[in-house]
Amino acid sequence: MAAMQERMRMAKRMGRIKHKLVVMSGKGGVGKSSVAANLAVALGADSKVGLLDADVTGPDIPKIMGVEDAHIISGDQGIEPAVGPNRVKVISMAQLLVGRDTPVIWRGPLKIKAIKQMMIDVNWGDLDFMVIDLPPGTSDEPLSIAQEIPDADGAIIVTTPQEVSLLDVRKSIAFAQAVRLPIVGVIENMSGLVCPHCGKTIDVFKRGGGEAAAKELGLRFLGRIPLDPDIVVGGDAGKPFVVEHPNSPAAKAFYGIVNEIRANLKPVPPRPEGPLAR
Ligand SMILES: Nc1ncnc2c1ncn2[C@@H]1O[C@H](COP(=O)(O)OP(=O)(O)OP(=O)(O)O)[C@@H](O)[C@H]1O
Ligand SMILES: [Mg+2]
Repeated sequence: MAAMQERMRMAKRMGRIKHKLVVMSGKGGVGKSSVAANLAVALGADSKVGLLDADVTGPDIPKIMGVEDAHIISGDQGIEPAVGPNRVKVISMAQLLVGRDTPVIWRGPLKIKAIKQMMIDVNWGDLDFMVIDLPPGTSDEPLSIAQEIPDADGAIIVTTPQEVSLLDVRKSIAFAQAVRLPIVGVIENMSGLVCPHCGKTIDVFKRGGGEAAAKELGLRFLGRIPLDPDIVVGGDAGKPFVVEHPNSPAAKAFYGIVNEIRANLKPVPPRPEGPLAR
């Protein structure tokens, strides 16, 4: 009975969110959280967006979004999310726990429970997009989290320009298949560095590995984001890069990717009637 009720509440909350995009990567440290946050903010320029940090053990999103110190309150409609730049609604375990410097040892089932709670008990309201930042890698943990997200549009795979990205993207495809998640496309992050002095691109980690992997594996290539030291500065300062440096090549890359995502969204099913309706 409780499980049934929980499913109904999940369907009701998630039914008000048109598109769910799951940001994932085959390995850690490729810039997944930075990409998730900046995509959410870029989408937020003309859509209603939520950003769910599903990385329960390493929640970086509140810092990048500048809502680390936001007081999370519980209202009639549930937990009120923090609000970041471009009115993006943000929820992360970092905000729901006291003493955020203490590492929390979570067991698998508890993590899943926490993620579900962030979907069900948060007052997301009506959203055009929910961007979900998964924990890194393709192990059991991100897998079981991804399984809990109902009717997602699909996975956005973040990778890097090296040749190993083929391996990474392959892992991500296997992951997405295992949870029956369609793949929206591949982003090549950290792709070249535009010299601020001469404007030429330096291929720090080589170039084109992510694009080649997408091509070889029959996936849509969403675009490449260059290395930009201001992405690090913005992430550390809680000022998302795309709002601080809108005219930089990397911000333009983000907006190009957003256009590519928007152009390939799945059709929105009609709102449910009856007990699931609002
Ligand atoms: N295009 C970029 N240019 C410069 N720095 C970047 C870029 N993308 C990400 N970074 C930096 O690289 C570091 C790692 O990024 P981030 O935390 O987003 O990666 P992640 O894949 O989410 O890592 P984890 O696997 O630990 O969750 C951060 O310091 C971030 O600011
Ligand atoms: Mg991360």
